[in-house]
Amino acid sequence: MAEQEIRKIGVLTSGGDAPGMNAAIRAVVRSALSKNMKVYGVHHGYNGLLEDDIEEMHIRSVSEIIHRGGTVLYTARSPEFLTLQGQQTAAANCRKHGIEAMVIIGGDGSFRGAKDLSAQEVPCVCIPGTIDNDIACTDYTIGYDTAMNTALEMVDKLRDTMLSHDRCSVVEVMGHRAGYIAANIGLAVGALVTVVPEKPLDVDKDIVSKMKFTKKMGKKHFIIIVAEGAGSAEQMAKEIEEKSGIEARPTVLGHVQRGGAPTVRDRVAATRFGYQAVELLSKGITDRVIGLRADDLVDFDIDEALSMKKSLDLSLLDINATLSV
Ligand code: F6P
Repeated sequence: MAEQEIRKIGVLTSGGDAPGMNAAIRAVVRSALSKNMKVYGVHHGYNGLLEDDIEEMHIRSVSEIIHRGGTVLYTARSPEFLTLQGQQTAAANCRKHGIEAMVIIGGDGSFRGAKDLSAQEVPCVCIPGTIDNDIACTDYTIGYDTAMNTALEMVDKLRDTMLSHDRCSVVEVMGHRAGYIAANIGLAVGALVTVVPEKPLDVDKDIVSKMKFTKKMGKKHFIIIVAEGAGSAEQMAKEIEEKSGIEARPTVLGHVQRGGAPTVRDRVAATRFGYQAVELLSKGITDRVIGLRADDLVDFDIDEALSMKKSLDLSLLDINATLSV
């Protein structure tokens, strides 16, 4: 496709929101306008394409959003878009507005949606936006750093009260089926044990014995970080208290991890991704997922990106196991 052939693009956010999505939207809109493209914002993810909830965006549509959490375009998970009929309706609404290509900001479920839309002749470029950091083709996803910093702040606060009461705090963090947030938070707070789906643990052997052993060495309070994909804080706290005799309290950090102003890292990554998405589209390059590898921008075919595997660096847990005594 010749340069500048795509004249009208759309942008949507899909799946769970992530801090930094607004910075990505801003970058998409302003980069596109700088290339004399028209840009349309689609509300509520793929639902907006189905329901024709689409508005043209201008320079000032994205003023004062770079620092805001959430997504000004709203987001959703759309079961209806999973059907062929839904995909055809979505593509027809794109054509109605003259939208020739879409920028999709979200996680791997959103990228599968992009493939389906592309099959209906609306090509897409995808930007990884999820706090979970579980997208294989990229080292980094928008929202990950902010979510971790929020979790860190919360656990630091919990630590004060657990220390005052000589208790054990079992904190459940998000991450979907992956342990990226948990492994990093565990190391950053010096958790006694971090439980991730990638490395199943035995509560007796790996947690209770270590609590008893370190208690003998003078340790008085304990922090256990559990990834939501590895178990429930409530169930684990109950079991730990029963087996160790040490008072344990569960805390589920939940959706607070998805909110708040994006950190520098998230704003910079999001802005680079948004700018790059428009660069690719302006060159006629479509059906790609953008990512960062060793801080360099990369992009992969959507199918290839979806087939990749990513593994958690378990040495983070080993380091923590040595130091948390
Ligand atoms: O993918 C982001 C995420 O926050 C996961 O960490 C979590 O498992 C899921 O979304 C929660 O989804 P919902 O907002 O639909 O409850």
